[in-house]
Amino acid sequence: LPRLYHENVIDHYNNPRNVGSFDKNDPNVGTGLVGAPACGDVMKLQIKIDEESGKIVDACFKTFGCGSAIASSSVATEWVKGKSMDEVLTIKNTEIAKHLSLPPVKLHCSMLAEDAIKAAVKDVELKRAKLEGNSSADAANAPIEKAADA
Ligand code: FES
Repeated sequence: LPRLYHENVIDHYNNPRNVGSFDKNDPNVGTGLVGAPACGDVMKLQIKIDEESGKIVDACFKTFGCGSAIASSSVATEWVKGKSMDEVLTIKNTEIAKHLSLPPVKLHCSMLAEDAIKAAVKDVELKRAKLEGNSSADAANAPIEKAADA
């Protein structure tokens, strides 16, 4: 058989890291669900944030797609762990593609992983902003309640 794929692709395809799902309603979980128009493949990547530090403590994925997409999402979940959200936004699909030695026709597969990371970060940031909004609304209400009690 001709060796079409780099050993890193085969490895991540055969032993994908961090396959699974987190509860998408958890306020510290960000979910990125993205699709590739070119082929119809779909990738879901989730990150779990430490509430205090804002760092990514865990990540998982489910990918309905080709071997390169599965390998790309597996690599992405490994690379985001332990990093801040700002840091993971700098992860480029070209770095993933290089790590896996993806051929040019498979670049869009690694693009899915970059898009999924960005979407997951956006999701959890929105959730956190909403929560902060609520708690400051509570704080704003507090003096009024006090005033009413007095
Ligand atoms: Fe579309 Fe790989 S062929 S994600």
